[in-house]
Amino acid sequence: MEGGFTLVRGLTSGGFGGTVTLAGADAADLVATAEAAPCALPAALAECGGVLLIPGMGGVATAPELLLRLSRIFGPEVENYRETGSAPNLVHPEVPQIFVVSNTPPASRQPPAKPEPELTPEGKFPVQFPQRRGWHSDQSFRRPPPDVSLFLGVQTVPRGQGQTLFADATAAYEALSPEMQARIEGVDGLHIGGGLGRRREAVLAGTPAPALKPNQLPQRQPLVREHPVTGKRALYMCEYGQMDWLEGPIYGMEPGPHGEGAKLLEALMSHCTQERFVYVHEWTPGDLVIWDNRCTLHAATWFDAEHEARVMWRTTVSGNPGAMYEGEAKSWLAAAE
Ligand SMILES: [Fe+2]
Repeated sequence: MEGGFTLVRGLTSGGFGGTVTLAGADAADLVATAEAAPCALPAALAECGGVLLIPGMGGVATAPELLLRLSRIFGPEVENYRETGSAPNLVHPEVPQIFVVSNTPPASRQPPAKPEPELTPEGKFPVQFPQRRGWHSDQSFRRPPPDVSLFLGVQTVPRGQGQTLFADATAAYEALSPEMQARIEGVDGLHIGGGLGRRREAVLAGTPAPALKPNQLPQRQPLVREHPVTGKRALYMCEYGQMDWLEGPIYGMEPGPHGEGAKLLEALMSHCTQERFVYVHEWTPGDLVIWDNRCTLHAATWFDAEHEARVMWRTTVSGNPGAMYEGEAKSWLAAAE
């Protein structure tokens, strides 16, 4: 690879994802090398289907600006969370482009629940929807949506908990029948932020949904996206917490949790999260995982938050969502009334 990096393809036996290393380099060396060869890591990400692991980046924990510098390689805009309405306790105090995901103060966010039941009928760790919940693509409720996320394990929890799951939405699309591919071509999902009363659970419970501000409105996104770098087609959707279950989840189809739209979305999500398409990342401190939100889905898992402390840093990079978003104003910055 350009820059002297080594890429080993295949985080799964199916060849999804890859691991990048740079012999003898610490975090600062690796970032400087990546800046000097700025196409190397983005090319590796594209070649590997949208997930890259860079281990040994623990030095970023004491030099957080390194994460910002590395993020800038992946696109023109790195989100400044202080400017986009994030709660101040979730934003890194020195580098506001870093979003802090942690169960420790001041973030104090709890992990998701365990699946119900905890294991598959074969006694395995479940990854497939609907037993596994929480599959999403970051900020899919925005138009244009973001491209790439970088996620650093600053303080991680023991193996067997607090994993991050990744699904290869390109391979999943390619494995659909030609009939299903034709059926979903040109069809849009209806995405919305999870805190706005339109989650599946809220709609099922009959909880009245609050009025939405202009910058909170549901956004249509194609179920099939063509990747602007690779040209490959991939499924693009979320599930219970990030779709509009009142008017959607599929635009133009019978709405609601029992409608035809729900049946289609749930069938696609179950297909996309089959074990053969999924990589389960067990975290080691200093792991940096980079994923492409345009062609992968991901999900967080439970960890023992009463006894374990977990600190993760995330950045989000935008600016190349594809031709269909060309020239669009940012939906989340729409004038609030
Ligand atoms: Fe996420």
